Formats: sequence, structure tokens, C-alpha cells
Amino acid sequence: MDIKECPNLSAPSLSSSTRWWSKDTVAVVTGANKGIGFSMVKKLAELGLTVILTARDTERGRKAVDELRRQHGLHVYFHRLDVSDSVSIKAFVDWLRQNLGVLDILVNNAGVSFNGLHENSVGHAETVIKTNFCGAKLLTESLLPLFRNSASKGRIVNISSRLGSFDKMRNPKMRKMLESETLTVEQIEEIVNLFLENVKKGTWKSQGWPEYWTDYAVSKMALNAYSQVLARRYQDNGRLLTIICFCPGFTQTSMTGGKGTYTADYAGEAGVRLALLPPEDLSIGTFHKLTHTGIKSKM
Ligand SMILES: NC(=O)c1ccc[n+]([C@@H]2O[C@H](COP(=O)([O-])OP(=O)(O)OC[C@H]3O[C@@H](n4cnc5c(N)ncnc54)[C@H](OP(=O)(O)O)[C@@H]3O)[C@@H](O)[C@H]2O)c1
Repeated sequence: MDIKECPNLSAPSLSSSTRWWSKDTVAVVTGANKGIGFSMVKKLAELGLTVILTARDTERGRKAVDELRRQHGLHVYFHRLDVSDSVSIKAFVDWLRQNLGVLDILVNNAGVSFNGLHENSVGHAETVIKTNFCGAKLLTESLLPLFRNSASKGRIVNISSRLGSFDKMRNPKMRKMLESETLTVEQIEEIVNLFLENVKKGTWKSQGWPEYWTDYAVSKMALNAYSQVLARRYQDNGRLLTIICFCPGFTQTSMTGGKGTYTADYAGEAGVRLALLPPEDLSIGTFHKLTHTGIKSKM
């Protein structure tokens, strides 16, 4: 796949002439009490959508909602959602069904890494996989029936990472599997389960897994692969949903200890621009990454 500059996406602001959404457009953002997720909620609310800020911790979530109200005059809904907990996902989906009934945009942003920038421990591999991949997948599958049946307007934005590019996989058999056009969700699950098995046995260093932030890279690789499987499913299904993977790049948040090239607001706004692409621009492909000159997309 080639990486191409997307001219439509390099403009710094969202133009009102391409506005297709309204206050009835419903967007859910996970892990949104801080960092990139919080910035995305702020931008989506400024643009007038109905936004649900979710967070795994009620107090931190409510504090974020209060900050938006007091400092920015913005009103958003809040509901607790721990994406690593199936009971919490079910409670959230039930609440959404009963209170709003529909969904247009899902941003799977919640994510964890337990490594400092130059560390590579896999001591929390299970939690990393459970949160970054399994959580996003289970939430997506649970919310699919709630997406409004409006051609070209439903979007799922998976906040991913270039650390999870398939070229980071050094095991040739698994790389081939990931790159296959016929990859299935079951095969992705096999790959992550094999990784967790290798971690348990202490053999993960010699099996060709990604070299840097290995557990995190495997989780994002699985998320990228899942996005591709889902995108294929909907391509063959009248394109009722568009699946977008977005790598914000090295961004100043808690995950990087505040270090990074971009601010959370810069990365968050780029994510929102992708989430709100006009329907006629949605054929730009699944993978997008933020650079200094704008967003680059793999076609
Ligand atoms: N920063 C970067 O350089 C960078 C680069 C590439 C990709 N990303 C991705 O960007 C996304 C946002 O990360 P960030 O940089 O904004 O980091 P962050 O500031 O640490 O934010 C992560 C958010 O995820 C939440 N979270 C963690 N586990 C959760 C769970 N089980 N259920 C629900 N929420 C959970 C955190 O909640 P708590 O406050 O409760 O912990 C927090 O709100 C992540 O998916 C990350 O992998 C970041």
C-alpha cells in the first residue's frame, strides 16, 4: 500500500461548507477524561454534535465534564465505561440504547502502556491486550446494532499507532497472515493469544514479535488488523460504516510522560477532522497518520 498525502485533510480547520452533521449526530469517545480523547470530545462538542464522554473512573470523568462546562461552556453527556470489563461495556450499551437510541460516530481511544519511553517490559501484557484490542473490539461489536442506518455517515475511528504497523512484525508467517486479504477475526485472536502464551512461557523475545513496546505494538497491530477486517465487511455491505485507523504520532500526554511532538489538542483535532470527513471523501482508505504537514493516508 502507498502512503499518500491527503490534500483535503491538510487544511488546519473544519470548514462549515463541508458540514454534514447536526446536533442530532451522536458521538461516543472512550478514555476521554484526559489526553487525546478529552481533546476530541472538546472539539466535537464545539462543532455542535451530541457527545458522550466516557471514562473508566466516574470521578475523573465527571471532573472532565465539569471542566468542559465551566471553562469552555460546553455540554456533554457522561457515562462510566471501562473497556476492559465486559459488564461495564454492557451497562454502557444498555444506557446508550435507552437514552439516545442511536449512534453515528464511535472513537475507540482508550489505551494503556505501562512502559517508559525506553523500556520494554511485558509485565502488564494481558491488561494491554485486553484494553487496547479486546476492549475496542467488544465495544465495537456491542455497538454495531445501534449505528444509525444512514449510508456513508456511520464512522468508527480507532486511535491506533504506527508501532502496530504490520511491517513491525518480524515473524514472516504471522506477517503474511496479517497482510492476507482473507484474514479473519479468529486469526487475529489466535495471534494475540500466541503472544500472551509466549509471554507466560518467557519465550516472547525470540519469536519475532515487534521490538519496541512489544505488548503495546501487538495490541495496536491487532486493532489495525481488526479494523481492516471490519472495513472489508462493510465495503461488501453497501458501505454503511466507515472504519478509520488514526495514529496521532508522538503526542504530549500521560502515556508519553508529557513528552511528544504534538499537543493533545493538535492530535485530537486531526482525529476529529477524520471522524467528520464529508461522505464524498470517505473512500480515502483505512490507515491515517498525523505528520507536520497534515494527515497522510494509506490508500
Ligand atoms: N500519546 C501518544 O504519543 C500516542 C501515540 C500513538 C497512539 N496513541 C493512542 O492514543 C490514545 C489516547 O492516549 P493518550 O496519549 O491520550 O494517553 P492518556 O492521556 O494516558 O489517555 C488514555 C486514556 O485511556 C483511558 N483508559 C485506560 N484504560 C482504560 C479502560 N480500561 N477503560 C476506559 N478508559 C481507559 C485513561 O483513563 P485513566 O485516566 O483512568 O487512566 C485515559 O483517559 C491511546 O489509544 C494511545 O494508545 C497515543
